[in-house]
Amino acid sequence: MKAYVDHDLCIGCGLCPSVCPEVFEMRDDGLSHVIVDTVPEGVEDTAKEAEEGCPVDAIKVE
Ligand code: F3S
Repeated sequence: MKAYVDHDLCIGCGLCPSVCPEVFEMRDDGLSHVIVDTVPEGVEDTAKEAEEGCPVDAIKVE
């Protein structure tokens, strides 16, 4: 499973790293970045939760 953040859409709300810090982190550019090549086992549900919770649908987890 892989995670992607569309930086043209992300408004830096910070939800995804707070829901799933194993996969997402906020950087100095004010946007969320994916910090893993593959979503680790055990956090797939929270990565999906971040995808569903993003207010601008900037995240894809598949
Ligand atoms: Fe950006 Fe959505 Fe995360 S707006 S900070 S990708 S929840």
